[in-house]
Formats: sequence, structure tokens, C-alpha cells
Amino acid sequence: IPLLLVLALGAYLIGSVPFGLVITRVMGLGDPRQIGSGNIGATNVLRTGSKAAGAATLLLDGLKGAVAVIVARTIAGGDAAQVAALAAFFGHCYPVWLGFKGGKGVATFLGVVLALSWPVGLLACASWVAGLALSRISSVGALTAAGLTPIWLILTGRLSMVVLGIVLALLIYWRHRSNIARLRAGTEPRVGRKS
Ligand code: G3P
Repeated sequence: IPLLLVLALGAYLIGSVPFGLVITRVMGLGDPRQIGSGNIGATNVLRTGSKAAGAATLLLDGLKGAVAVIVARTIAGGDAAQVAALAAFFGHCYPVWLGFKGGKGVATFLGVVLALSWPVGLLACASWVAGLALSRISSVGALTAAGLTPIWLILTGRLSMVVLGIVLALLIYWRHRSNIARLRAGTEPRVGRKS
């Protein structure tokens, strides 16, 4: 079996670990799929009322993406790292364990970008924080970060990563289509609110 395929499969499997469900289960907080947006990500885990659980979900969903990229790069170099980034992101959004119904990929996106290029990763994180701080809406932070990252890649000269950045951004917008509909309707909740 080609090494790249093994690395991609490994990255997919790492990415598909749903830390939001693991953490809420371990902490006895109930299933995030039953509340709020129904998503398994950090924003919706926060809606269980536990900031610690939300923060841990953000951190671990990001970390798994970074780990997948770093392992692939160490074994097989930069192109493999990009494949692993996409595979881990896919694993988070479409995990085999949950009937392919996973998250929206934002934390994992930030993790893979940080591991691929930490300056661009920091710009992506800053874009997310800025969008979130200005709107107090998590999905606005996510859509801001995803939309700006291809631009940050171009401006910092990481041209070999631009296609990946655009693909990840498109996937994040696709995964946020219910959020985009709520934003347009003016019904998207601010962070920390339950509905
Ligand atoms: O990371 C997902 C976030 O951007 C939106 O989450 O639960 O409000 O759909 P949620």
C-alpha cells in the first residue's frame, strides 16, 4: 500500500475522534447533539454550560489536526502534510463512527493551519478571534478565519498551500450552511446562549 494512502487514512482516523462527545461524556454533561445547534464542536459544547468542556474541545479538536500534520510531515514531507491536513479535517467533519455526521471543522482547521505554517496559523486564529469579538457569534469568527486564510497564504508567500486553503475554506462554508441561513435571518445566537 502506498505510504501516502496509509498516512491519509491515519490522519482521517485521528481527525474522526469526536472530542466534543468524548469530553461531554466523561464530564457527564449530556449529549451536545441534543442541544443548541446539535453540533459536536466547541461552540455547542459550551452551550452545555461548561466553559472548561468547551475550551478542552477546542484544544483537543485543534491538537488532533496539528498532530496529524506533524506526523505526516515527519514521515513523508510537506506534500504529505497537506494531504494529512485535508484528511484530518475530513475525519472531523465526516467521522465513520458517527455515520459520517461530524462537526464543522473550525478547531481542526486552525490546528492543521498552525502546524502547516505557524505564522499563517496565528493569522487565522487572530482572524477568528477578531470576527468573534466583533460579532460575539462563533460562526462569524469561523467564516472570517476560513475566508481570510487563503489571502494570508498569498500575502505570506505560502503559494503551495493556497489551493488547500481554498478547499478547506469552501468546506467550512459548506458545513456552516445552516449557520449562514440563520445569520441571514438574524437568528444566529451569540456565544454562550443556549438556543
Ligand atoms: O465551530 C462551529 C461554529 O463556527 C458554529 O457552531 O454550534 O454555533 O453551529 P454552532
